[in-house]
Amino acid sequence: MTDLLRLTNVKRGFSLEGQRIEVLRGIDFAMAAGEMVALTGASGAGKSTLLHLMGSLDQPESGSLLFEGQELMGLSNADLAAHRNRHLGFIFQFHHLITELTAVENVALPARVAGIDAAVAGERAAELLDWVGLGARLRHRPSELSGGEQQRVALARGLVMEPRLVLADEPTGNLDEENAGAIHDLFASLNQDRGVGMIVATHSSSLARRMQRRVHLDRGLLVDLDAKPETEDQSS
Ligand SMILES: Nc1ncnc2c1ncn2[C@@H]1O[C@H](COP(=O)(O)OP(=O)(O)O)[C@@H](O)[C@H]1O
Ligand SMILES: [Mg+2]
Repeated sequence: MTDLLRLTNVKRGFSLEGQRIEVLRGIDFAMAAGEMVALTGASGAGKSTLLHLMGSLDQPESGSLLFEGQELMGLSNADLAAHRNRHLGFIFQFHHLITELTAVENVALPARVAGIDAAVAGERAAELLDWVGLGARLRHRPSELSGGEQQRVALARGLVMEPRLVLADEPTGNLDEENAGAIHDLFASLNQDRGVGMIVATHSSSLARRMQRRVHLDRGLLVDLDAKPETEDQSS
């Protein structure tokens, strides 16, 4: 079966004021459709950099990045934007909701950008807001919602295009335990009920424990924390 996502020897560094830092020094990673993966690593290890590459928001300097078997390296910016809109959902620590728009308008926005009819997009958005427990907050603007509610709106927005893969960057980093728990529950049911693949960069060990798989960034390389040692001696 084709992997949902496969990275091979992906490298990305930055040059700043004549100083060069190699952040990702050769990342190899593959995940199947519907897998749920926690990405951990110290602050500054390169988690956000890696998620940006996985989400085609930034391009590797070298290596290969396949989505459902298709090479993304070398695609035009327009093709990458279409790919992101059609297949990916993003959830960041700071929700980046548009302050002038209501909850339902914020959630519907990616669908409207994709050319989906306003009524259809609005209906889909309302359903998702209901699913995240905000069915009674459709017309509220971000400033009229709590931090936890705003993050649930952002989660709904990340799902409105029915993505195959959701990339979340410390999605509960600025929430208290109770609100974080509500988001963690939604992630679990998202994965179980809808089969959406997820990669979640997180400092939260309780969130990481709920994931099927944990990978850890250390000195520019990705370590599979759940890898079983190869056993060739066992009869299969
Ligand atoms: N656009 C950039 N220009 C220069 N350096 C960057 C840029 N983006 C990230 N970095 C550097 O890359 C390293 C990894 O950053 P980041 O991916 O944000 O780590 P994490 O998300 O794990 O905390 C940091 O040292 C950071 O300063
Ligand atoms: Mg980060």
